[in-house]
Amino acid sequence: MDSFKNIRALVIGAGGGIGQALVEQLAGTANVERLFAASRRNPAGDGDRFSCLALDLEEEDSIARAAASCRDQGGVNLVIVATGLLHQGSRLQPEKSWRALDPEQLMRSFAVNTIGPALVAKHFLPLLPRGERGVFAALSARVGSISDNRLGGWHGYRASKAALNMMIRNLAIELARRNPSALCIGLHPGTVDTPLSSPFQGNVPPGKLFSPGRAARQLLTVIDQATAENNGQLLAWDGQVITP
Ligand SMILES: NC(=O)c1ccc[n+]([C@@H]2O[C@H](COP(=O)([O-])OP(=O)(O)OC[C@H]3O[C@@H](n4cnc5c(N)ncnc54)[C@H](OP(=O)(O)O)[C@@H]3O)[C@@H](O)[C@H]2O)c1
Repeated sequence: MDSFKNIRALVIGAGGGIGQALVEQLAGTANVERLFAASRRNPAGDGDRFSCLALDLEEEDSIARAAASCRDQGGVNLVIVATGLLHQGSRLQPEKSWRALDPEQLMRSFAVNTIGPALVAKHFLPLLPRGERGVFAALSARVGSISDNRLGGWHGYRASKAALNMMIRNLAIELARRNPSALCIGLHPGTVDTPLSSPFQGNVPPGKLFSPGRAARQLLTVIDQATAENNGQLLAWDGQVITP
């Protein structure tokens, strides 16, 4: 992570497959001077350069409290939102047809995949330092690309990720005006072996299913190499720009 001098990083969704791997990877990175890990689960243990925070995307107060806590502990220059929702037992399954469209399930998808990350941006973009590198990155998905959509299905997930991609683009435009040294980007991790993808891994070709550790390394490289030109873009795990 040579593009940063000293990194003060926050990972939101630190209990998830990719989130946990990002925390592990950052914990072993030499120039990380402070690491915040935010999760809905009971945060356990703080250390010298490690702090746990309680954060639920569906409770804005918890996001505001986490932001205040980061600010009081010296601030952050890298925020990664690694949360997301595709399925949740009988409460939510990705739709295969318009017949399955259900307002409650659509609202949950948008609450977690679009509105939650937007509220994180509301409370954390103002913390990014001025005059030095700062990155806000939210994990999105290639399936949120409208031009790339040839398969259909997964209506709520696709639509909520497309809306997240628009949110990232909009926030990036405002950020460029307020804090030109900072970036706001979306990231597509590829297909990664986590609870989110596990029911849907059957058709993934061999070699195309990344371990969470590999995905985390790839995403951190993309973050490290992102430039002002990438502000507002959705970048894939290999650094390719995904068309909206
Ligand atoms: N895995 C893939 O193949 C793949 C492909 C494309 C894109 N992505 C994207 O990558 C991101 C991470 O996915 P993953 O595979 O690591 O999934 P995962 O293992 O299911 O982790 C998802 C995380 O989201 C958190 N979360 C869900 N609802 C939340 C809420 N209301 N408040 C706070 N946290 C909440 C979960 O928190 P708890 O730990 O508290 O439950 C969990 O940490 C998602 O945005 C996903 O869409 C993944």
